[in-house]
Amino acid sequence: MCGIIGYLGERNINEVILRGLERLEYRGYDSCGICVVCNGKLEYKKIEGRLHKLKEMLARDPLAGNIGIGHTRWATHGVPNEINAHPQFDCKKNIAVVHNGIIENYHTLRQWLSSRGHQFISDTDTEVIPHLIEEYYHGNFLAAVQHALPLLEGTYGLAIITTYEPNKIFVARRGSPLILGIGTGGEFIVASDATAIIDWTRKVTYLSDDEIVVIEKGNYFITNSKNETIIKDTEEVLMDLAEIEKGGYPHFMLKEIFEQPETITNTLRGRILKDNNQVRLGGLETEIIIDDKKIKAKDYLVNVDRIVISACGTSWHAGLVGEYLLESLARVPTEVEYASELRYRTMIKLPNMAVFVISQSGETADTLAVLRKAKEMGIPVFGIVNVVGSTIARETHAGIYLHCGSEIGVASTKAFTSQVAVLTLLSLFLAQRRNILHDTVRHEIVSALLRIPTQIELILRKKDEIKRIAEKYHTFNNFLYLGRGINFPVALEGALKLKEISYIHAEGYPAAEMKHGPIALIDKNMPVVVIATDTDDIIYEKVLNNIEEVKSRGGNTIIIATEGNTGICRLADEVIYVPKTKDILTPLLNVIPLQLLAYYIAVKRGCDVDKPRHLAKSVTVE
Ligand code: G6P
Repeated sequence: MCGIIGYLGERNINEVILRGLERLEYRGYDSCGICVVCNGKLEYKKIEGRLHKLKEMLARDPLAGNIGIGHTRWATHGVPNEINAHPQFDCKKNIAVVHNGIIENYHTLRQWLSSRGHQFISDTDTEVIPHLIEEYYHGNFLAAVQHALPLLEGTYGLAIITTYEPNKIFVARRGSPLILGIGTGGEFIVASDATAIIDWTRKVTYLSDDEIVVIEKGNYFITNSKNETIIKDTEEVLMDLAEIEKGGYPHFMLKEIFEQPETITNTLRGRILKDNNQVRLGGLETEIIIDDKKIKAKDYLVNVDRIVISACGTSWHAGLVGEYLLESLARVPTEVEYASELRYRTMIKLPNMAVFVISQSGETADTLAVLRKAKEMGIPVFGIVNVVGSTIARETHAGIYLHCGSEIGVASTKAFTSQVAVLTLLSLFLAQRRNILHDTVRHEIVSALLRIPTQIELILRKKDEIKRIAEKYHTFNNFLYLGRGINFPVALEGALKLKEISYIHAEGYPAAEMKHGPIALIDKNMPVVVIATDTDDIIYEKVLNNIEEVKSRGGNTIIIATEGNTGICRLADEVIYVPKTKDILTPLLNVIPLQLLAYYIAVKRGCDVDKPRHLAKSVTVE
């Protein structure tokens, strides 16, 4: 939530900061701002609304300077407007702060600072930060920052510039990601994520909590509130620039949907041994320390009696698919918990248990809180994460990366299928180590898994057909999504995609639960999307009964069925066929038409698909 950036160097400051903010806009986009030090004074522009407005303003009237900061906001405290946009200032406008996170004790601090004569003009929590630093400034700016930061409760990623020391940027983090990029010729760029940095440099240092960085031309040092010197290694970011461009697609979301044959291939690459179809997960080769003993992550996991998966949003849906996979393939009792709930619940530690946190961004605040809570309790925590070097990836004991490339569209698509692919590999791996699956069955599943990318390509070729269905139904205001077994979470995910980007109310339900409530809603105005792909057990027959129940009440049905099942047409207003695969792999195929359906409906309704209202891609606040 919120993207922050700071730049010190000789390039055009408007260009560097705007380009960085463009890359960070997925983190929040309700208002934005920029501030530079020019001739010893702070000059700034901030606006309510999208970045293109700021861009137009700067094109007409650019700022000049070699040191600046920028911000793109997702409002937490205070409505999106110009006054609440960042940067926020102290009374005399000598200190400018951009902030990502939430200051939880801002109210108390604001009251206290007001009693000391500070005047506040915004409704933000952030505004207390420049005032607090102002309060403690007595000639040494770093000392004032070091005094102020320990008084803040909550989370922050901060970039600060000041007229008191106009040649420096001060940067600090606690709980919100920040990366320092070290360029050539003495330039530096600091940002909430690497996408805003890699245009200019690939040499970076990831900041840790409670670190403060002071940057000036050609030089930087890292310290903390105790004034200790901190030495950190630099790393190279390997991200490909093409990954974060639209590549000819009208939206990132469509590009990312179409990338899935390739991204799943990348997720599987090198993890299935060619000669015997055994699964090998490099990330689980890591040695971890449990009860003072060193053990490889994979050897610990083989003996677990219970797995708790925790995540948010789409990642939580992938976790639900994982529950089916881990229980049916590896016979490990698994529970899936919303991270936002689990972090405040009584977590019970049992012997031989593991927590898995799933996160595309690796920065989701609630998921991170669960990770930290479990670690404090001495429970080993493993990550299934996409963004390399993200906070969750760094803090887990070990983990498995998705390798699906940058996901920019706010509605997650390719990360979901890669998460499910990783959970499939993990389940197969545990099954193989526990001798649970017969070799023939394992070979069949692995071969089917390797065919998934080609089968997704076949589904993507149906885009025009799905677009036609979307155009037919785009005016409806409610949708119901039904699925059973391993496809129940896919129904949830289909409904989430639709509501996120088209603002249509949509509910996902286990098909058989419909008769306990939602059936009352069914009439000709309620399209029902049903996942009814072939399964080898009785579930398929039961789903057919559920569809009959919808039809007999006048509902419109859009059915996802297995190729060749012509019989289903009698129950369907629309059918989208997907190729046949093993039952437990069907989520990887069935979700694709649901992603496309949501996309085309949202486009037809004129919605901003990549930046849906009120949402942000990376939710780094509670
Ligand atoms: C936000 C995004 C969702 C995402 C969720 C969890 O709500 O809009 O697309 O699924 O956060 O994010 P994570 O990065 O932890 O997977």
